Amino acid sequence: KRVAILISGRGSNMSALIGAAMDPSFPGEIVAVLSNKPDAGGLSTAARYGIPAKAVDQRAFEDRTAHERALIETLDAFRPDVVCLAGYMRLLTPLFVGHYAGRMINIHPSLLPLFPGLHTHERALEAGMRIHGCTVHFVTEDMDEGPIIAQAAITVERGDTPDALATRLLRAEHRLYPHALRLVLDGTVAQEGNRAVYAEAPA
Ligand code: GRF
Repeated sequence: KRVAILISGRGSNMSALIGAAMDPSFPGEIVAVLSNKPDAGGLSTAARYGIPAKAVDQRAFEDRTAHERALIETLDAFRPDVVCLAGYMRLLTPLFVGHYAGRMINIHPSLLPLFPGLHTHERALEAGMRIHGCTVHFVTEDMDEGPIIAQAAITVERGDTPDALATRLLRAEHRLYPHALRLVLDGTVAQEGNRAVYAEAPA
């Protein structure tokens, strides 16, 4: 299966996916990395791995729809079966989400449905959470609300700061995302409406 990744920044989750896909037993290959920002650090990382890496600069388009149309055109030239959002920080409209319905997934740094949106580590600490975590989910029109594929939890330690928590959680993200992508690629889990449904285990 062919996998494309969308990023906006450093791309450490992207790197984790690229690393996992280098294993010959992984059921997919990373065929492209695209960014909405030309200065995203992850673009040069991807290029170093020999993966086509391109920016579709949002500033070059007059509105969100025009940008998304260009993004779809660039992405579809790589014929992706699955699109992974990995720190892609621009809201997507129903146009884009609908085009990749059932085959676009995202990683979010909280235990959804808790703390959708930004500043998840601060908010988890403020709420007095004793565990925190990350979620990989199918992308639907409602931000950070699609069907949950997989989650990982970490414990909140005494004296944790948002940064410390973010750093520890990132390590869990890097394990979780390749695992969740594998489940989608090999058909173990699929989106059915508002649920992520697991296939029956073979007898
Ligand atoms: C990660 O924490 C991810 O969960 C969130 O944005 C961050 C991206 O980091 N959506 P990176 O670009 O993958 O290093």
